[in-house]
Amino acid sequence: MCAEIEKIKQQMQSLRTEIEQHNHQYYALDDPVIPDTEYDKLFARLQQLEQAHPQLITVDSPTQRVGASPLKEFSQIAHVVAMLSLNNAFVDEDVEAFDRRVREVLLSNSVEYMAEPKFDGIAVSLRYEKGIFKAGATRGDGYVGEDITLNLRTIRSIPLVLPHDHSPLLLEVRGEVLMLKADFLALNERQVRMGEKIFANPRNAAAGSLRQLDSTITATRRLAFFAYGVGEFDDPDLPRDKQSHMMDYLVSLRFPVAKEAKIVSGVEGLLSYYQSIGSQRENLSYDIDGVVYKVNAVLDQEKLGYVSRAPRFAIAHKFPAQEALTQILDITVQVGRTGALTPVARLRPVFVGGVTVTNATLHNIDEITRKDVRIGDTVVVRRAGDVIPEVASIVIEKRLQQVPIFHMPSHCPVCHSHVVRYADEAVFRCTGGLFCPAQRKQAILHFASRRAMDIEGLGEKLVEQMVDHAIVRTPADLYKLGLTALANLQRMAQKSANNILQAIEESKHTTLSRFIYALGIRNVGETTAKDLAKYLGSLDRLMTISDVQLQQIPDVGPVVAQSIVNFFAEQHNQEVIEQLRASGIHWEEHEGQSPQSDAIKPLSGKTFVLTGTLSGMSREQAKEKIAMLGAKVSGQVSKKTDYVVVGIDPGSKYDKAVSLAVTLLNEDEFMALLQDHQQ
Ligand code: IVH
Repeated sequence: MCAEIEKIKQQMQSLRTEIEQHNHQYYALDDPVIPDTEYDKLFARLQQLEQAHPQLITVDSPTQRVGASPLKEFSQIAHVVAMLSLNNAFVDEDVEAFDRRVREVLLSNSVEYMAEPKFDGIAVSLRYEKGIFKAGATRGDGYVGEDITLNLRTIRSIPLVLPHDHSPLLLEVRGEVLMLKADFLALNERQVRMGEKIFANPRNAAAGSLRQLDSTITATRRLAFFAYGVGEFDDPDLPRDKQSHMMDYLVSLRFPVAKEAKIVSGVEGLLSYYQSIGSQRENLSYDIDGVVYKVNAVLDQEKLGYVSRAPRFAIAHKFPAQEALTQILDITVQVGRTGALTPVARLRPVFVGGVTVTNATLHNIDEITRKDVRIGDTVVVRRAGDVIPEVASIVIEKRLQQVPIFHMPSHCPVCHSHVVRYADEAVFRCTGGLFCPAQRKQAILHFASRRAMDIEGLGEKLVEQMVDHAIVRTPADLYKLGLTALANLQRMAQKSANNILQAIEESKHTTLSRFIYALGIRNVGETTAKDLAKYLGSLDRLMTISDVQLQQIPDVGPVVAQSIVNFFAEQHNQEVIEQLRASGIHWEEHEGQSPQSDAIKPLSGKTFVLTGTLSGMSREQAKEKIAMLGAKVSGQVSKKTDYVVVGIDPGSKYDKAVSLAVTLLNEDEFMALLQDHQQ
């Protein structure tokens, strides 16, 4: 009997080794040796044996990558070694400047670099303690990320244990989770078949799959992992002389790494690597958005060090935005939450950078006029990363006959109210307010969104139906919904109806700042809502305060103050708020902080203007950081502006700043200034 069990145990072990070997072939080497069906058979056989002999299941068995019960929310994990970002190079000159700086510091004529693809996925950190995968986290803000251990456990190319002869006390492996192009296409096909939402690109699919509170969903998605570095460690075997040796070591521990990585020297080496990877890009099994160069010698890396949040020893050389030619079939107008009308080009479907694009934003009428875009034109469509595709330019030579100029409609295409354009705005607006179904839908979606009332499951399709069937007219109506009304909607099973009702119920317990943000007051974004909550402490105070008093609050200028006063003066808004409160929405109120306490903040009284894109943070994050130090962010450069932060591709604000001799800060200088004033 014992011998029999021993035999089964061995059989299971060899199945496990074989399956992990195939995972490795598929994900790490991109070279599967057996068809999927054969893999599935091996897997099923192992599952059968484990079911018959549950005492023989091991933690590192491939069958254990199935996910666990759903979490309520992700907990946080601090990164002892920060997960920083990289500075970007866009043109050869940027790379030459990078190499020059490196050589100046290292006093060298030619530097050895490790060049590798820049994965277009999600950065993660994997923590192994004594050789066992203990915890995994997202990058978050670089210092604190989300604990996504359960999700990461389901990824087949992430070792659950390290080889037995290598069980270091601690090793944090850093890398990127992504979805291979083939798996992405298969997933979208499946989503279409199941009537589920399709993903725009592999990166979104990977991110959506990885940040699931229910890891059993992650387990059904094929995700891949590639390592590119190490975080915290306590491992005498980890080579510390060269980046490339460190990567070889990770390979010996069976971590997948990019096999296109290469050691090159000098700027010529870097640029020819860029060319070569660029030409292979389409044929790679995963999406990349550029390449990364790292000084290979670790001692030299340390000499070069870091500037604010990015290493000086490495740089990302990005590929240009992807472009394609197509034709404009029509120009339609979309109505947003605040009534803003956005012209959208309906395109002959075109494949750009891995996605089929059928619509592209035209931003506003000024852009249309500037680019002279007309229906029927052949246009260049551009897509960069996650950004909404846009019409970059038209090909005037291809306009065969004179076609009429596009005009914005004089009436809203949805509710037929008048359209107006205020003197100081680029946009046209529908004056229908909440009478306009389009605005109503957007207002409700905004109210329910994650950073507002966070009603999970209340998506676009559902809100559309609710408004069209007139069962919801205002956010307050959400709290009056019954099961029958909901379950009568299309594609709404009783179970999902129950889930939505549950989510609505749960949203009743909220915070004042979320509630203020959820109201969708013009010009009141998340940060302003937080400030209002912080300084006023109660909704009643906010509803009754004068615009002069409002302007005492940091970051609240005359425009924001006026929007707030106007909003609460509206009878209709007061009624909705009354109903919302009556339905049981509640939060904790407090006395409110005196805005005066801001007078002692390090940058209070200063005004910043941002122009161009920052590589290390979004514009919202930058604004928040500036506000936290007590300074204001303004949209326009004037003589009163203290600093203009200049990112990549700055706009006309840059020229204005130069002409007014306002102090300019590049991203590094801006980060340094923030750091100097951190409290
Ligand atoms: S090295 C100190 N190597 O790019 C930072 N990063 O802007 C070390 N990324 O979020 C990062 N491919 O996740 C490195 N081969 C690669 C990479 C890579 C993609 C991502 C990384 C980070 C971002 C940095």
